Amino acid sequence: MSVVRITHFTDPHLYGGEHETLRGVQTLPALTAALAHARARDWPPDAVLVTGDLVQDDPAGYPHFRRLFGELGVPVLCVPGNHDEPQAMRRELAAKPFVLDGGYVDFGRWRIVLLDSCIPGSASGALSAQALEGLRAALSDAGTRHCMVCLHHHPVPMSSRWLDRVGLNNAAEFLHTIDAHRNVRAVLWGHVHQNYDALRKGVRMLATPSTCAQFAPNSDDFAVDRRPPAYRTFELRPDGSLLTEVVWLEQHAGGSSRSACSAA
Ligand SMILES: [Fe+2]
Repeated sequence: MSVVRITHFTDPHLYGGEHETLRGVQTLPALTAALAHARARDWPPDAVLVTGDLVQDDPAGYPHFRRLFGELGVPVLCVPGNHDEPQAMRRELAAKPFVLDGGYVDFGRWRIVLLDSCIPGSASGALSAQALEGLRAALSDAGTRHCMVCLHHHPVPMSSRWLDRVGLNNAAEFLHTIDAHRNVRAVLWGHVHQNYDALRKGVRMLATPSTCAQFAPNSDDFAVDRRPPAYRTFELRPDGSLLTEVVWLEQHAGGSSRSACSAA
């Protein structure tokens, strides 16, 4: 069995307008640059993963996303974020290579579980009873596969008062489900526009910086971090260990942080 390679982009916040900005960053050029950077490195991965806020409350952003990611020749796994427009997202990304609407996808010895954590009209999130049941089922019947669970909202505190008001409301239920299964190796989210990497009960807990503007870590009040756009790569190994790297687009402003972890 070989290593499964995933490239993770999150929170591109696209608009219909090609030069629109979010907190000083032109979001479409930033995403285009991040994708080009990734494609110039270890390409292709087995899949691309995108954890929400594909657009900034503007359904006209989806055609840009479809154009950029639709011809890569690899599956593009997406979960929605609080700034997405669910109906437009489903309509614009209805066909392959896009995979939406929860469920899971298996790659070799790994199962990637996709969860919709959005509450209509709310910046915070929650998993419905149906989503939690889907998670339990996906983990229970994974057989010998290792699992990585992906959602938009953070299920653990980020040490940031304003962000922690808009996390996953029923995180305790989610974590209880994670804890009840021994095959979860990683939980991955977007939403927080910053890097996060911790180990919780043997499970790697990871957030990836946005492909556009970042939020300052450990800030009680909203604050923008001037770090550049970024994305994350994964090597998911057959033994359940993983190697992950955050790649910042301007090396002088942060470089990359590479870290390995053994299976729990
Ligand atoms: Fe976002």
